[in-house]
Amino acid sequence: MPIGIFDSGLGGLTVQQEVSLRIPNQAIVYLGDNFHVPYGVRDHEQIYDLTHKAIERLWGEDCDLVIIACNTASAVAVKRIQEECLPRDKRVLGVFVPLIEAVTERRWGDNSAPREVNVKQVALFATPATVATRAFQRELAYRAIGVDVDAQPCGGLVDAIEENDLKLAEALVKSHVSALLRRMPKPDVAVLGCTHYPILKDCFQSALGSNVQVYSQGKIVAESLVDYLSRHPNFVEKGQVKFLTTGNITKVSKAATRLLAKTIEFTSV
Ligand code: DGL
Repeated sequence: MPIGIFDSGLGGLTVQQEVSLRIPNQAIVYLGDNFHVPYGVRDHEQIYDLTHKAIERLWGEDCDLVIIACNTASAVAVKRIQEECLPRDKRVLGVFVPLIEAVTERRWGDNSAPREVNVKQVALFATPATVATRAFQRELAYRAIGVDVDAQPCGGLVDAIEENDLKLAEALVKSHVSALLRRMPKPDVAVLGCTHYPILKDCFQSALGSNVQVYSQGKIVAESLVDYLSRHPNFVEKGQVKFLTTGNITKVSKAATRLLAKTIEFTSV
């Protein structure tokens, strides 16, 4: 069966691309809910309902394993879906935990007590909804002690990327970074806690300065998935990558093709 990869829009493509690079023949169904993007300004109930609906769509495409390549949906909805309505034969994984494990240099699935780690000051950039959940800080506290996190809600950034307006997106990155640096002038690392943001990783890096290590999720999540699949080979299946959207297929395909600098054709769900 194919693996499902879901995002509110185009951001999850940054994860899908890295997955396809590592497991080139894996059958994948990508679903972007571009009709409802952005999720990051919605309330929790709406984010939960939209995420649940999208996952059900991917189950309808025979995806027994679904990766929620959206931090907002992961922070708000994944735990509840796993606890309340996950059929026995399905798996739903979020993108938060692998990122935190990478930042804290703890191995995937290391459940030992929280301990001191190398990183001390973390600048987190995410959507307003993700920041409001404090899910990153909570997950971090399970693994590490003595780490300060300052979180910047990056209002407007997902919209600008979806609208393919990179000039506006870059201006927003600069202003969000300088707002955060006023509160935390010397972070050790910056975490791009939204799968749309790696599209502007260079811009984040230059606004933050070369001393700050910038973490984004594509590679980290793809490597975790490879590890997961080695332990669960029943989810591995050869096939194509299919791109589905709830949005306008011409507009979404055009934006995806420009942002990733390769041809990506979406079809309707
Ligand atoms: N890519 C989503 C994330 O990782 C964007 C959420 C949104 O639609 O605002 O949070």
